[in-house]
Amino acid sequence: MSSTLPVTLDRTAGGSLGVQLSGRIRDLVVAGTLARGDRLPSSRALAAELGVSRSVTEQAYEQLLAEGWLEARRGSGTFVTATGAARAALPRRPTAPATAGLVRLDAGTPWIDPRHAAGWRRAWREVSTAPPPRGYDDPRGLPELRALLADRLGRSRGVLLDPDELVVTNGTTDGLRHLLTALPHGPVAIEDPGYRAAVETVAGLGRTVLDLPALAPVTDLTGVVACYVTPAHQHPLGRVLPGPERVALLDAARAADAVVVEDDYDSEFRYDVAPVPALASLDRGRVAYLGTAAKSVAPSLRLGWLVPPPDLLDRINARRLVTHEGAPWPVQRAFLALLRDGYVDKVVRTARRVYAERAPRVAAALSPYATPGGPVAGMYSTWLLSQADALRARDAARRAGFELNLLSGYCRTATLTGLVLGFGGVTDDELDRALAALTSALGRSRG
Ligand SMILES: Cc1ncc(COP(=O)(O)O)c(C=O)c1O
Repeated sequence: MSSTLPVTLDRTAGGSLGVQLSGRIRDLVVAGTLARGDRLPSSRALAAELGVSRSVTEQAYEQLLAEGWLEARRGSGTFVTATGAARAALPRRPTAPATAGLVRLDAGTPWIDPRHAAGWRRAWREVSTAPPPRGYDDPRGLPELRALLADRLGRSRGVLLDPDELVVTNGTTDGLRHLLTALPHGPVAIEDPGYRAAVETVAGLGRTVLDLPALAPVTDLTGVVACYVTPAHQHPLGRVLPGPERVALLDAARAADAVVVEDDYDSEFRYDVAPVPALASLDRGRVAYLGTAAKSVAPSLRLGWLVPPPDLLDRINARRLVTHEGAPWPVQRAFLALLRDGYVDKVVRTARRVYAERAPRVAAALSPYATPGGPVAGMYSTWLLSQADALRARDAARRAGFELNLLSGYCRTATLTGLVLGFGGVTDDELDRALAALTSALGRSRG
């Protein structure tokens, strides 16, 4: 049985034909095949088409009228309603962003040297032959991995801890999320300009974000429960938090009973001096330390670690035990092998050399036109320019096939303008072409 409506009824299906018909018409509306304002055949005509009694079509129409999918207009028929038409309710299909297909000069993308691919493969082969845990594993993470990470933190960052005080996470923002669940309600202060993912994470959990001017000493944290900072390499301006300001920040946190969240995302990548010890090395009871494998190995690994202040540890672990929110076992197992076999040290050393060579190249190209936002370390540098010049340069880069971020995109109440240029995730040739596009636009603007 079929009709001018694309509806077929199945007499063998059992159940009421009226219910079957109302379901079919409802499906057409939901799918958008019938849209707002479409007129349905009369119940008599539809019954004739389908070869059923009129009571079947009337029952179906009455049901859909009651549900609001249809409306009867006296003298003119039965119509699909505005509210019932799913096509109208469907979100508009997102259009591809204008920047699709461009090579991204992202601040957060590291150089992954293809020469080390064999070590990567070896680690994953080991994962493939290791038996997975039988049930949900230790929510804190693999004990061997925590032991290696704790040892590394002590040696390279001056953070002394027992492996049981460290929690393996799915990356920095995951660690931040776990920490926030253990903190009392209240606002979180975040550097401005600052790490956008941290802002989104805090706001997404329903907390107020307070703007902490990134370059001003922090002396008062009254009323906040936590304060998020990047002391080794302010993101995105680049400054190292000076010693006296570290002391003042910790004093302010103690006075306000706030936790300082230290995002130590890329401290391995200093190429002028040795990495500055972590803030957590000064006060483990006050600082929550966040580390990540995103810069040393790959952002897509989604692996990080959190060292919370000891008094929050049990609360975080108890919750993770119930929610099974541990980091995936294969990723932990692979990272364990990568750390243990020296892969991580090797890729960090290679990438550091690459960045140490590229950073001055970027500086040589841009310094005639722009002021550095701070000392250069890691895999990006930030350049202060007028917004008009920054936009001109960004647009020229786009025309040449590259996408890079405007500094204004990291600002909330701060009014800094310029460019944040990542030089890790591109080839030398791509970097040269991007710099040529930028300098030619900035040179023209100067001229
Ligand atoms: C300031 C900052 N912190 C942390 C990260 C790493 O985050 P995740 O570990 O979630 O990948 C990034 C990555 O770009 C970053 O820019």
